[in-house]
Amino acid sequence: MVAVLAAAALLTASACGARNDDVPPPSTVEVFTWWAEGGEKAGLDALVTRFGADCPGQRFENGAVAGGAGVNAKQALTDRMIRHDPPDTFQAHAGAELLDYIDAGQVEDLTAYYTAWGLRDVLPAGLIDDLTVRGKIYSVPANIHRANVVWTNPAVLARAGITAPPKDLPAFIDDLAALKAAGVEAPLAIGRDWTQLMLLEAVLITDLGPERFAGLFTGKTDWRGAPVTAAIGDFAALLGYGNLDRDTLDWPQAERLLIDGKAGYQLMGDWAAADLTAKGFPGYGWFTFPGNGKTFQWLADSFTLSTGAANITGTECWLKTVSSEAGQQVFNAAKGSIPARTDVAAAGFSPYQQSAMADWKTAVPVPSCAHGSGCSQAWQSAVNAALRAYSIGGDPKTLQAELAQAAVQFIRA
Ligand code: GAL
Repeated sequence: MVAVLAAAALLTASACGARNDDVPPPSTVEVFTWWAEGGEKAGLDALVTRFGADCPGQRFENGAVAGGAGVNAKQALTDRMIRHDPPDTFQAHAGAELLDYIDAGQVEDLTAYYTAWGLRDVLPAGLIDDLTVRGKIYSVPANIHRANVVWTNPAVLARAGITAPPKDLPAFIDDLAALKAAGVEAPLAIGRDWTQLMLLEAVLITDLGPERFAGLFTGKTDWRGAPVTAAIGDFAALLGYGNLDRDTLDWPQAERLLIDGKAGYQLMGDWAAADLTAKGFPGYGWFTFPGNGKTFQWLADSFTLSTGAANITGTECWLKTVSSEAGQQVFNAAKGSIPARTDVAAAGFSPYQQSAMADWKTAVPVPSCAHGSGCSQAWQSAVNAALRAYSIGGDPKTLQAELAQAAVQFIRA
Protein backbone atom coordinates (compact mmCIF):
# COMPACT_ATOMS: atom_id res chain seq x y z
CA MET A 1 0.00 0.00 0.00
CA VAL A 2 2.79 2.42 1.02
CA ALA A 3 4.73 1.55 -2.12
CA VAL A 4 1.69 2.23 -4.32
CA LEU A 5 1.08 5.62 -2.71
CA ALA A 6 4.74 6.57 -3.01
CA ALA A 7 4.76 5.62 -6.68
CA ALA A 8 1.57 7.60 -7.28
CA ALA A 9 3.09 10.63 -5.54
CA LEU A 10 6.20 10.38 -7.69
CA LEU A 11 4.10 10.15 -10.82
CA THR A 12 2.10 13.25 -9.86
CA ALA A 13 5.28 15.15 -9.10
CA SER A 14 6.90 14.21 -12.38
CA ALA A 15 3.69 14.97 -14.30
CA CYS A 16 3.84 18.52 -12.91
CA GLY A 17 7.54 18.73 -13.72
CA ALA A 18 8.53 19.59 -10.13
CA ARG A 19 7.43 19.15 -6.55
CA ASN A 20 5.40 21.98 -5.06
CA ASP A 21 8.19 23.26 -2.84
CA ASP A 22 10.50 23.87 -5.76
CA VAL A 23 8.11 25.37 -8.24
CA PRO A 24 10.33 27.43 -10.52
CA PRO A 25 9.98 31.19 -10.10
CA PRO A 26 7.86 32.92 -12.75
CA SER A 27 9.82 33.81 -15.86
CA THR A 28 7.31 36.05 -17.61
CA VAL A 29 7.18 39.80 -17.07
CA GLU A 30 3.90 41.38 -18.06
CA VAL A 31 4.56 44.93 -19.24
CA PHE A 32 1.48 47.12 -19.47
CA THR A 33 1.56 50.12 -21.86
CA TRP A 34 -0.59 51.79 -24.50
CA TRP A 35 2.05 51.41 -27.18
CA ALA A 36 0.33 49.21 -29.71
CA GLU A 37 1.19 50.50 -33.19
CA GLY A 38 3.47 52.66 -35.35
CA GLY A 39 6.38 54.48 -33.72
CA GLU A 40 5.13 53.70 -30.22
CA LYS A 41 5.21 49.94 -30.87
CA ALA A 42 8.60 50.31 -32.58
CA GLY A 43 9.96 51.89 -29.40
CA LEU A 44 8.54 49.13 -27.22
CA ASP A 45 9.88 46.44 -29.56
CA ALA A 46 13.38 47.91 -29.37
CA LEU A 47 13.24 47.80 -25.59
CA VAL A 48 11.96 44.23 -25.63
CA THR A 49 14.90 43.13 -27.78
CA ARG A 50 17.30 44.73 -25.32
CA PHE A 51 15.46 43.10 -22.40
CA GLY A 52 15.89 39.72 -24.09
CA ALA A 53 19.66 40.25 -24.21
CA ASP A 54 19.95 41.72 -20.69
CA CYS A 55 17.66 39.30 -18.88
CA PRO A 56 18.25 35.71 -19.96
CA GLY A 57 15.55 33.30 -18.83
CA GLN A 58 12.93 36.08 -18.67
CA ARG A 59 10.18 36.47 -21.23
CA PHE A 60 8.29 39.67 -22.11
CA GLU A 61 4.53 39.46 -22.09
CA ASN A 62 2.79 42.28 -23.90
CA GLY A 63 -0.06 43.73 -21.84
CA ALA A 64 -0.63 46.73 -24.13
CA VAL A 65 -4.09 48.25 -24.44
CA ALA A 66 -4.35 50.47 -27.55
CA GLY A 67 -5.52 54.10 -27.47
CA GLY A 68 -3.48 57.31 -27.59
CA ALA A 69 -2.37 58.85 -24.29
CA GLY A 70 -3.69 55.77 -22.47
CA VAL A 71 -7.37 56.65 -22.88
CA ASN A 72 -8.36 52.97 -22.71
CA ALA A 73 -5.31 51.62 -20.93
CA LYS A 74 -5.70 53.69 -17.79
CA GLN A 75 -9.26 52.47 -17.28
CA ALA A 76 -8.25 48.85 -17.96
CA LEU A 77 -5.42 49.21 -15.43
CA THR A 78 -7.77 50.59 -12.79
CA ASP A 79 -10.12 47.63 -13.34
CA ARG A 80 -7.22 45.20 -12.91
CA MET A 81 -6.05 46.93 -9.74
CA ILE A 82 -9.55 46.60 -8.30
CA ARG A 83 -9.48 42.88 -9.11
CA HIS A 84 -6.00 42.58 -7.47
CA ASP A 85 -4.64 41.40 -10.80
CA PRO A 86 -1.90 43.95 -11.57
CA PRO A 87 0.57 43.53 -14.42
CA ASP A 88 4.16 43.19 -13.16
CA THR A 89 5.01 46.68 -14.39
CA PHE A 90 3.07 49.48 -16.02
CA GLN A 91 3.70 52.73 -17.85
CA ALA A 92 2.93 55.81 -15.79
CA HIS A 93 3.69 59.47 -16.42
CA ALA A 94 6.16 61.09 -14.07
CA GLY A 95 4.59 63.78 -11.89
CA ALA A 96 0.99 64.16 -10.72
CA GLU A 97 -0.26 61.07 -12.51
CA LEU A 98 2.26 58.81 -10.78
CA LEU A 99 1.16 60.25 -7.45
CA ASP A 100 -2.29 58.72 -8.03
CA TYR A 101 -0.75 55.23 -7.94
CA ILE A 102 1.54 56.03 -5.03
CA ASP A 103 -1.31 57.37 -2.93
CA ALA A 104 -3.36 54.28 -3.74
CA GLY A 105 -0.51 52.01 -2.58
CA GLN A 106 -0.30 50.34 -6.00
CA VAL A 107 3.43 50.76 -6.66
CA GLU A 108 6.58 49.76 -4.80
CA ASP A 109 9.37 51.98 -3.55
CA LEU A 110 12.30 51.78 -6.00
CA THR A 111 14.66 54.14 -4.16
CA ALA A 112 17.19 51.36 -3.46
CA TYR A 113 17.51 50.63 -7.20
CA TYR A 114 18.45 54.25 -7.83
CA THR A 115 21.43 53.79 -5.54
CA ALA A 116 22.31 50.30 -6.80
CA TRP A 117 22.17 51.32 -10.47
CA GLY A 118 23.77 54.77 -10.02
CA LEU A 119 20.73 56.54 -11.45
CA ARG A 120 21.08 59.67 -9.35
CA ASP A 121 24.30 60.50 -11.20
CA VAL A 122 22.84 60.17 -14.70
CA LEU A 123 19.30 61.58 -14.44
CA PRO A 124 18.66 65.34 -14.29
CA ALA A 125 18.19 66.59 -10.73
CA GLY A 126 14.91 68.30 -11.69
CA LEU A 127 13.45 65.05 -12.98
CA ILE A 128 14.52 63.19 -9.83
CA ASP A 129 12.77 65.92 -7.80
CA ASP A 130 9.60 65.43 -9.86
CA LEU A 131 9.77 61.69 -9.25
CA THR A 132 10.43 61.93 -5.54
CA VAL A 133 7.45 61.73 -3.24
CA ARG A 134 7.96 62.05 0.51
CA GLY A 135 11.61 61.11 0.03
CA LYS A 136 11.01 57.99 -2.05
CA ILE A 137 11.06 57.23 -5.79
CA TYR A 138 8.50 54.85 -7.26
CA SER A 139 9.33 54.57 -10.95
CA VAL A 140 12.19 54.70 -13.43
CA PRO A 141 11.90 57.11 -16.36
CA ALA A 142 12.37 55.81 -19.89
CA ASN A 143 12.40 59.12 -21.72
CA ILE A 144 11.52 62.78 -22.00
CA HIS A 145 8.86 63.70 -24.55
CA ARG A 146 8.08 67.22 -25.71
CA ALA A 147 4.42 68.09 -26.15
CA ASN A 148 4.43 71.59 -27.68
CA VAL A 149 5.55 70.82 -31.23
CA VAL A 150 3.80 71.55 -34.54
CA TRP A 151 4.46 68.99 -37.30
CA THR A 152 4.10 70.02 -40.92
CA ASN A 153 3.60 68.63 -44.39
CA PRO A 154 6.00 70.88 -46.32
CA ALA A 155 4.45 70.06 -49.72
CA VAL A 156 1.02 71.22 -48.54
CA LEU A 157 2.47 74.41 -47.09
CA ALA A 158 4.29 75.10 -50.35
CA ARG A 159 0.91 75.20 -52.12
CA ALA A 160 0.15 78.38 -50.18
CA GLY A 161 3.69 79.69 -50.52
CA ILE A 162 4.54 78.99 -46.87
CA THR A 163 8.22 78.16 -46.49
CA ALA A 164 9.05 79.23 -42.94
CA PRO A 165 7.58 78.74 -39.46
CA PRO A 166 5.26 81.54 -38.30
CA LYS A 167 6.90 83.98 -35.89
CA ASP A 168 3.93 84.16 -33.51
CA LEU A 169 0.33 83.05 -33.02
CA PRO A 170 -1.30 85.75 -35.23
CA ALA A 171 1.14 84.81 -38.03
CA PHE A 172 0.19 81.13 -37.54
CA ILE A 173 -3.49 82.01 -37.91
CA ASP A 174 -2.62 83.96 -41.09
CA ASP A 175 -0.87 80.88 -42.48
CA LEU A 176 -3.86 78.69 -41.64
CA ALA A 177 -6.09 81.17 -43.47
CA ALA A 178 -3.72 81.15 -46.45
CA LEU A 179 -3.90 77.35 -46.60
CA LYS A 180 -7.67 77.47 -46.48
CA ALA A 181 -7.69 80.03 -49.30
CA ALA A 182 -5.40 77.69 -51.28
CA GLY A 183 -8.04 74.96 -51.04
CA VAL A 184 -6.84 72.98 -48.02
CA GLU A 185 -10.13 72.25 -46.28
CA ALA A 186 -8.72 71.45 -42.82
CA PRO A 187 -5.31 73.15 -42.52
CA LEU A 188 -4.84 72.01 -38.90
CA ALA A 189 -5.31 68.29 -38.12
CA ILE A 190 -7.08 67.84 -34.77
CA GLY A 191 -8.21 64.76 -32.87
CA ARG A 192 -10.33 63.92 -29.85
CA ASP A 193 -10.56 65.53 -26.38
CA TRP A 194 -7.02 65.05 -25.03
CA THR A 195 -5.45 66.25 -28.29
CA GLN A 196 -7.63 69.36 -28.02
CA LEU A 197 -6.34 69.78 -24.47
CA MET A 198 -2.79 69.71 -25.85
CA LEU A 199 -3.71 72.47 -28.30
CA LEU A 200 -5.34 74.55 -25.57
CA GLU A 201 -2.27 74.10 -23.35
CA ALA A 202 0.04 75.24 -26.15
CA VAL A 203 -2.09 78.37 -26.63
CA LEU A 204 -2.10 78.98 -22.87
CA ILE A 205 1.71 78.83 -22.82
CA THR A 206 1.79 81.48 -25.53
CA ASP A 207 -0.82 83.74 -23.97
CA LEU A 208 0.24 83.43 -20.31
CA GLY A 209 3.98 82.75 -20.62
CA PRO A 210 5.64 79.72 -19.02
CA GLU A 211 5.55 80.87 -15.42
CA ARG A 212 1.87 81.78 -15.28
CA PHE A 213 1.06 78.67 -17.32
CA ALA A 214 2.80 76.41 -14.77
CA GLY A 215 0.91 78.29 -12.05
CA LEU A 216 -2.39 77.02 -13.48
CA PHE A 217 -1.52 73.62 -12.02
CA THR A 218 -0.27 74.77 -8.64
CA GLY A 219 -3.00 77.26 -7.81
CA LYS A 220 -0.83 80.34 -8.38
CA THR A 221 -2.62 81.35 -11.59
CA ASP A 222 -6.36 81.89 -11.67
CA TRP A 223 -8.18 79.98 -14.40
CA ARG A 224 -10.92 82.62 -14.29
CA GLY A 225 -8.57 85.44 -15.37
CA ALA A 226 -8.68 87.48 -18.57
CA PRO A 227 -5.55 85.85 -20.09
CA VAL A 228 -7.28 82.46 -19.96
CA THR A 229 -10.39 84.01 -21.57
CA ALA A 230 -8.17 85.34 -24.37
CA ALA A 231 -6.47 81.95 -24.77
CA ILE A 232 -9.82 80.20 -25.11
CA GLY A 233 -10.65 82.72 -27.86
CA ASP A 234 -7.41 81.87 -29.69
CA PHE A 235 -8.06 78.16 -29.20
CA ALA A 236 -11.53 78.60 -30.76
CA ALA A 237 -9.96 80.37 -33.75
CA LEU A 238 -7.57 77.43 -34.26
CA LEU A 239 -10.38 74.88 -34.00
CA GLY A 240 -12.06 76.80 -36.81
CA TYR A 241 -9.22 75.74 -39.13
CA GLY A 242 -9.45 72.07 -38.16
CA ASN A 243 -11.27 69.00 -39.45
CA LEU A 244 -14.92 68.77 -38.41
CA ASP A 245 -14.71 65.10 -37.41
CA ARG A 246 -12.09 65.88 -34.75
CA ASP A 247 -13.99 64.29 -31.87
CA THR A 248 -13.95 60.87 -33.56
CA LEU A 249 -10.21 60.72 -34.31
CA ASP A 250 -7.36 59.41 -32.18
CA TRP A 251 -4.03 61.14 -32.78
CA PRO A 252 -2.69 58.72 -35.44
CA GLN A 253 -5.87 59.20 -37.47
CA ALA A 254 -5.52 62.98 -37.27
CA GLU A 255 -1.85 62.53 -38.22
CA ARG A 256 -3.04 60.58 -41.27
CA LEU A 257 -4.65 63.81 -42.57
CA LEU A 258 -1.19 65.39 -42.45
CA ILE A 259 0.52 62.45 -44.17
CA ASP A 260 -2.14 62.32 -46.90
CA GLY A 261 -1.81 66.05 -47.62
CA LYS A 262 -5.28 66.89 -46.32
CA ALA A 263 -3.82 69.08 -43.57
CA GLY A 264 -0.70 71.24 -43.36
CA TYR A 265 -0.12 71.17 -39.59
CA GLN A 266 -0.68 69.06 -36.47
CA LEU A 267 0.15 70.01 -32.89
CA MET A 268 1.32 66.81 -31.22
CA GLY A 269 3.95 65.42 -28.88
CA ASP A 270 7.16 64.19 -30.40
CA TRP A 271 6.02 60.57 -30.52
CA ALA A 272 4.77 61.93 -33.88
CA ALA A 273 8.38 62.21 -35.09
CA ALA A 274 8.82 58.45 -34.75
CA ASP A 275 5.36 57.67 -36.01
CA LEU A 276 5.65 59.81 -39.15
CA THR A 277 8.89 58.02 -39.95
CA ALA A 278 7.41 54.59 -39.17
CA LYS A 279 4.53 55.40 -41.53
CA GLY A 280 6.81 56.33 -44.42
CA PHE A 281 6.71 60.12 -44.06
CA PRO A 282 10.19 61.13 -42.95
CA GLY A 283 10.05 64.46 -44.82
CA TYR A 284 8.00 66.22 -42.14
CA GLY A 285 8.87 69.67 -40.83
CA TRP A 286 8.47 70.90 -37.26
CA PHE A 287 8.58 73.96 -35.05
CA THR A 288 7.81 74.82 -31.44
CA PHE A 289 4.21 76.05 -31.09
CA PRO A 290 4.14 79.74 -32.16
CA GLY A 291 4.68 82.05 -29.23
CA ASN A 292 5.98 79.33 -26.89
CA GLY A 293 9.51 80.72 -27.25
CA LYS A 294 12.02 78.62 -25.37
CA THR A 295 9.44 76.68 -23.39
CA PHE A 296 9.81 72.89 -23.41
CA GLN A 297 6.54 71.29 -22.34
CA TRP A 298 7.81 68.01 -20.98
CA LEU A 299 6.39 64.68 -19.94
CA ALA A 300 8.14 61.43 -19.10
CA ASP A 301 7.07 57.85 -19.49
CA SER A 302 8.23 55.81 -16.54
CA PHE A 303 7.85 52.21 -15.42
CA THR A 304 6.82 50.92 -12.02
CA LEU A 305 6.98 47.75 -9.98
CA SER A 306 3.35 46.95 -9.16
CA THR A 307 2.46 46.07 -5.61
CA GLY A 308 1.63 42.37 -5.78
CA ALA A 309 3.70 41.78 -8.96
CA ALA A 310 4.06 38.06 -9.65
CA ASN A 311 7.61 38.23 -10.99
CA ILE A 312 9.69 40.66 -8.95
CA THR A 313 13.11 39.41 -10.17
CA GLY A 314 12.10 39.65 -13.83
CA THR A 315 10.52 43.06 -13.32
CA GLU A 316 13.69 44.34 -11.63
CA CYS A 317 15.59 43.29 -14.72
CA TRP A 318 13.04 45.04 -16.98
CA LEU A 319 13.41 48.24 -14.96
CA LYS A 320 17.19 47.98 -15.07
CA THR A 321 17.04 47.68 -18.87
CA VAL A 322 14.63 50.64 -19.12
CA SER A 323 16.97 52.80 -17.06
CA SER A 324 20.21 51.65 -18.69
CA GLU A 325 22.22 53.67 -21.19
CA ALA A 326 21.81 51.02 -23.90
CA GLY A 327 18.08 50.62 -23.17
CA GLN A 328 17.45 54.36 -23.39
CA GLN A 329 19.47 54.58 -26.59
CA VAL A 330 17.52 51.98 -28.53
CA PHE A 331 14.13 52.80 -27.06
CA ASN A 332 14.27 56.54 -27.65
CA ALA A 333 15.84 56.34 -31.08
CA ALA A 334 12.72 54.44 -32.16
CA LYS A 335 10.15 56.31 -30.03
CA GLY A 336 10.79 59.96 -31.00
CA SER A 337 11.56 61.01 -27.43
CA ILE A 338 14.97 61.79 -25.97
CA PRO A 339 16.73 59.80 -23.26
CA ALA A 340 16.00 60.83 -19.70
CA ARG A 341 19.64 59.93 -18.93
CA THR A 342 22.11 62.66 -19.67
CA ASP A 343 24.96 60.33 -20.71
CA VAL A 344 23.48 58.89 -23.92
CA ALA A 345 25.31 60.07 -27.06
CA ALA A 346 23.30 62.18 -29.52
CA ALA A 347 24.70 60.29 -32.51
CA GLY A 348 22.18 57.85 -33.91
CA PHE A 349 19.21 60.09 -33.14
CA SER A 350 17.17 61.89 -35.82
CA PRO A 351 17.74 65.58 -36.60
CA TYR A 352 14.50 66.38 -34.77
CA GLN A 353 15.65 64.47 -31.68
CA GLN A 354 19.05 66.11 -31.72
CA SER A 355 17.35 69.51 -31.73
CA ALA A 356 15.12 68.42 -28.82
CA MET A 357 18.18 67.22 -26.88
CA ALA A 358 19.81 70.61 -27.34
CA ASP A 359 16.62 72.46 -26.35
CA TRP A 360 16.10 70.32 -23.23
CA LYS A 361 19.43 71.56 -21.90
CA THR A 362 18.54 75.25 -22.16
CA ALA A 363 14.76 75.63 -22.43
CA VAL A 364 12.26 76.52 -19.71
CA PRO A 365 10.47 73.31 -18.64
CA VAL A 366 6.71 73.36 -18.05
CA PRO A 367 4.49 70.36 -17.29
CA SER A 368 1.66 68.85 -19.33
CA CYS A 369 -1.85 68.29 -18.01
CA ALA A 370 -2.88 65.97 -20.87
CA HIS A 371 0.13 63.72 -20.15
CA GLY A 372 0.18 63.66 -16.41
CA SER A 373 3.22 65.70 -15.45
CA GLY A 374 0.91 68.52 -14.32
CA CYS A 375 -2.49 66.95 -13.59
CA SER A 376 -3.81 63.89 -11.80
CA GLN A 377 -5.99 61.48 -13.75
CA ALA A 378 -9.19 62.78 -12.15
CA TRP A 379 -8.26 66.31 -13.18
CA GLN A 380 -7.52 65.20 -16.74
CA SER A 381 -10.87 63.44 -16.95
CA ALA A 382 -12.72 66.56 -15.81
CA VAL A 383 -10.87 68.78 -18.29
CA ASN A 384 -11.36 66.34 -21.16
CA ALA A 385 -15.09 66.16 -20.41
CA ALA A 386 -15.29 69.97 -20.47
CA LEU A 387 -13.51 70.04 -23.82
CA ARG A 388 -15.78 67.38 -25.31
CA ALA A 389 -18.82 69.43 -24.34
CA TYR A 390 -17.24 72.57 -25.79
CA SER A 391 -16.26 70.84 -29.02
CA ILE A 392 -19.83 69.93 -29.86
CA GLY A 393 -21.10 73.47 -29.58
CA GLY A 394 -20.54 74.50 -25.97
CA ASP A 395 -19.85 78.11 -25.13
CA PRO A 396 -16.48 79.54 -24.08
CA LYS A 397 -17.71 80.94 -20.75
CA THR A 398 -18.90 77.49 -19.67
CA LEU A 399 -15.60 75.96 -20.74
CA GLN A 400 -13.63 78.46 -18.69
CA ALA A 401 -15.89 77.99 -15.66
CA GLU A 402 -15.50 74.21 -15.88
CA LEU A 403 -11.71 74.45 -16.23
CA ALA A 404 -11.62 76.72 -13.17
CA GLN A 405 -13.89 74.39 -11.23
CA ALA A 406 -11.66 71.38 -12.04
CA ALA A 407 -8.60 73.24 -10.77
CA VAL A 408 -10.32 74.12 -7.49
CA GLN A 409 -11.44 70.53 -7.08
CA PHE A 410 -8.24 68.73 -8.01
CA ILE A 411 -5.24 70.88 -7.12
CA ARG A 412 -3.30 69.03 -4.47
CA ALA A 413 -2.36 70.98 -1.43
C1 GAL B 1 1.58 59.88 -24.09
C2 GAL B 1 2.79 59.00 -23.84
C3 GAL B 1 3.60 58.89 -25.06
C4 GAL B 1 2.75 58.52 -26.24
C5 GAL B 1 1.48 59.35 -26.32
C6 GAL B 1 0.50 58.99 -27.41
O1 GAL B 1 0.77 59.97 -22.97
O2 GAL B 1 3.55 59.56 -22.81
O3 GAL B 1 4.63 57.96 -24.86
O4 GAL B 1 2.49 57.19 -26.13
O5 GAL B 1 0.82 59.35 -25.12
O6 GAL B 1 -0.12 57.77 -27.19
